[in-house]
Amino acid sequence: MHQKAGTILRLFREQGGFLSGESISRELNVSRTAVWKHISALREAGYVIEAVPSRGYHLLSAPDILSVEEVQAHLRGTVVGSRLVYPGETVSTNTDAFRLAEQGASEGTVVFADTQSGGKGRLGRRWSSPPGVNLYCSVILRPKIMPYEAPQLTFLSAVAVARAIERSSGLNPQIKWPNDVLLEGKKVAGLLNEMSAETDGINFVILGIGVNLNMTAVQFPTDLRHPATSLLLEGGRPVDRARYAALLFNELDRLYAEFLLRGFGPVREEWQVRCNAHGRNLIVNDGDREIISGRFAGIDEDGALLVGREDGTTERILSGDVRVI
Ligand code: BTN
Repeated sequence: MHQKAGTILRLFREQGGFLSGESISRELNVSRTAVWKHISALREAGYVIEAVPSRGYHLLSAPDILSVEEVQAHLRGTVVGSRLVYPGETVSTNTDAFRLAEQGASEGTVVFADTQSGGKGRLGRRWSSPPGVNLYCSVILRPKIMPYEAPQLTFLSAVAVARAIERSSGLNPQIKWPNDVLLEGKKVAGLLNEMSAETDGINFVILGIGVNLNMTAVQFPTDLRHPATSLLLEGGRPVDRARYAALLFNELDRLYAEFLLRGFGPVREEWQVRCNAHGRNLIVNDGDREIISGRFAGIDEDGALLVGREDGTTERILSGDVRVI
C-alpha cells in the first residue's frame, strides 16, 4: 500500500467521521486529484469509503487484509511491535525473524505474514499456513536471561495468545502443557520458540506464534495428530485479523514488561490457572506407554511439568503427551 494511502487510513481512524478532501490534501501535502487517486486505490483494495459533496470522505468498512498500517492502527505497546515487518507471503516468519535478529534487528521487531510456504511446527512438523485466514507471526526479544530460562517466554506467549482470544471473541481458551492453546479441547494456536545463545546468556529469542482465526473445516490438513479448530469455527463469526494481531502484540508487550520487572512468577501463576490440567489428575504418556499419573502441581522455572504422586513426591516431566482425567 502506498504510504500516503496508509496516512489517509490513520486520519480516518483518528477523526472517526468525515474528512474533507481539502483537509486530507493539506495533511498529505498533495493535490485534491492525488487524494482522489489514493481514495480510489483504497477502494480497489476493498475499503468502503463514501464520498458526500461538501462533507468529504467517510470510511465505512475495512477489508480483512493484513498490513502494517492496519495493525499499527490498534497498537498500544512500546516494545513489542515497535517495528513491524510484513512480507505478505514468506517461507517461515520464524526464519525471517531469526535472520533479522542476526543482522541486529531491535527488540520488539515483529515479522507477520498472510501465508507461509514452509511454516514450521514443533518436533520438525509442518504448520499449515493457508492465505487470507490466520495469523502467523514471530517476535524478536533480547532479555538478559540464562538459556535455561528461555522456555519461560514460551509460557508468556501462551498466556498472551489466550488473553487476546478472550478479548477478541469472548471465548474461553485453555493452555495444554507444554504450549498448545485450546478451544473446547481442540488446538487453536501453536508456539515455536527458537533462540540464539551463549553458555552465559542469550543473544535473542524468537517467539513464533500461529493462531487459527478464520480457517474453515475443509482447510485443515486431514493427517492432523490432534483435533484442531479456529476462532471462526468455535465462535461462529469471523475475526478481524489485524485487530487480533494488534491485541496479541499489546498483550505480549504488557506481559513482557512485567516479566522484566518481576520475573517469571506472574506469568507462571496465570499460566497455571489457564492450564487445562489445573486442579485435575493427569496421565503422562511417552508415545503409547504410560509413564506416570498423578495430580497437576504446576510448572517449574525451566518449563518442566510438575506431577504430584500419591506417595507425596513430585515428578518433573520434560517431554511426553499429557491427558487430563
Ligand atoms: C506447533 O507445532 O504447535 C508450533 C507451531 C508454530 C507455528 C508458528 S506460525 C508463525 C511461526 N513461523 C513458523 O514457521 N512457525 C511459527
